[in-house]
Parts: sequence; structure tokens; C-alpha cells
Amino acid sequence: MATEEQIEKWREAGKIASEVKKFARSKAKKGISIVELADTIEARIAELGGKPSFPVNIGINEKAAHYTPFHDDKTVLGEDLVKIDQGVALDGFPTDTAFTLDLTSDKRHAKIIEVTEKALKEAIKLARPGTPVREIGGKVHEVITAAGFSPIRNLSGHEIMRNKIHAGLSIPNYDNGNGSKLEENMIIALEPFATTGEGLVKEGKESGDFALIEKKPIRDARAREVFIFIEKEFSTLPFAGRWIYKKFGRRGLHSLRLLVREGAVRNYNELIEVSKQPTTHFEQTILVKDKPEVLTE
Ligand code: CO
Repeated sequence: MATEEQIEKWREAGKIASEVKKFARSKAKKGISIVELADTIEARIAELGGKPSFPVNIGINEKAAHYTPFHDDKTVLGEDLVKIDQGVALDGFPTDTAFTLDLTSDKRHAKIIEVTEKALKEAIKLARPGTPVREIGGKVHEVITAAGFSPIRNLSGHEIMRNKIHAGLSIPNYDNGNGSKLEENMIIALEPFATTGEGLVKEGKESGDFALIEKKPIRDARAREVFIFIEKEFSTLPFAGRWIYKKFGRRGLHSLRLLVREGAVRNYNELIEVSKQPTTHFEQTILVKDKPEVLTE
């Protein structure tokens, strides 16, 4: 469990993350390219003195999670349902928060957005010591299905630790029977996803999200240089191919591929709803207490 000193870091990181969230809302408009959007949000994190917990993830329509653009992605926001997932880390203490925006002219996704946000609010009330994770999942499922939508069952909330954005407990979005209990001073992310589709995601195409897996002897000198940079800058937190491109140019991306082949670095895939239906996502980082404390409000 986090100590008081660590909790203070997390609180500070959470304050910056909520600032950034407001900024992201103001920038995510029709016509902006997602590369510009991600770059701008990440620049704002740096301005405020933080580091990204992971690259800014932008999920459009059926894309639910784990997508950050490569530097040459041409996608521009239009009549879309857009999820922005970001977090700020201070000293390796990461936070994680997400919201959904309806950019359609007729606001056709208003209801599912409202319901997902409500599911998160209800889940947060349960973020107290002793709550079994299945109970939180059951509540999320209840709120979302009562409104005629489906929670995404194979995406879940998670415990957060230093330099580990997904660590320890997994907190489901339905009652999966897991009786593991929350403990005081745990840092957790609760993150309901909802859809008009089946409620499952599968892997899609490669994302620009990467993360170091383990230290390995790297023979190629250039790849070794890139690996050392990754280790020093990001430790085991996810990072973007865009950031490697900015630092090392095209040859950096070649080195990155090599590191993936060698098993030193992993490359994530985007996660898309299996029936290709729109998805929503809201997420907050929470300190587990008798009175739960939302760090990224
Ligand atoms: Co998360």
C-alpha cells in the first residue's frame, strides 16, 4: 500500500492530470489531427512539470483503448465518438484518467456517455477498504445494462503502483466472481467502458504504444542506444513510437522494431469492439479510503 509520502506525489500528479484533462477537452474538436492532439496534450503535461504515465491514447468510435498515433498517422477528428485517455506521472508515480466526447452534430451518443459516467460515479462510491472487486464490477454492469447498453467485459480497472500503470488487482466491469478486496491506501483506476455492441474487444492493428519488457543484451549499437534512452526516460511505463521518432528520427523506429523482435520491448495493439460498435470510456484514479479520494477529478 502507498505510504503517506507516496500518496502526496500521487495527489500532485493527479492535480496535473485533471488540469490536462480540461485542456484536452478544449482541444479535441472536429478538424484536428490526432497526432497534433496527442502531441499538444503531451506538451501540456511537460509544461505543467509532469511526464505522461503513458502516451495519450485516442480511441475513435469502435476503437476502445490502447491506440496512440504514429508520427505519420493522417487521421483527423470528424463526426466521431472520441475517447481520450491520459495520465501524469511524477517521479514514476502514475495516474490514469479518461473521458469521452461526442463530436457528432446530432449528439447521438449523449445517452451512452451519460450512463458510462454514472457507472464510474457509482463505482467510485464503492472504492473503500474491504469491497470485493466483483461488487464494483456488478455495480458497473447493473448501471450500464439498465440503460440498455453493454459494459465491455474484457477491459477492466486496475491497481496502480510506482512505474507500473497496470499492477496487482484487476477490477472488472461485471461481476466476475473475484472476491479479492480493496485495501486502505491502494491506488486504483476505475474505468467502465460501454458499447451498443456485444461488449467485448479484440486486438486490431498495431498501435504506437510500446513498453520496455526486460533488460537484454543488445548487440546492435544503435538499438542499444535507443534501449538505454527508453530505460532512463520511461522505465517500465509505456511510451510512444512518436517520442522515439522525435529523438532519433527514422533510424530510431528501425531500432525500436529490432528491440520488439528481440523481446526487450513490447508493441501494443489497438483494442476494438468485436461487433465494431461505438464504445465509451470514463476513468479516474482513486485513493482507497472509507471516504474514497478521487485524485484526477
Ligand atoms: Co487505466
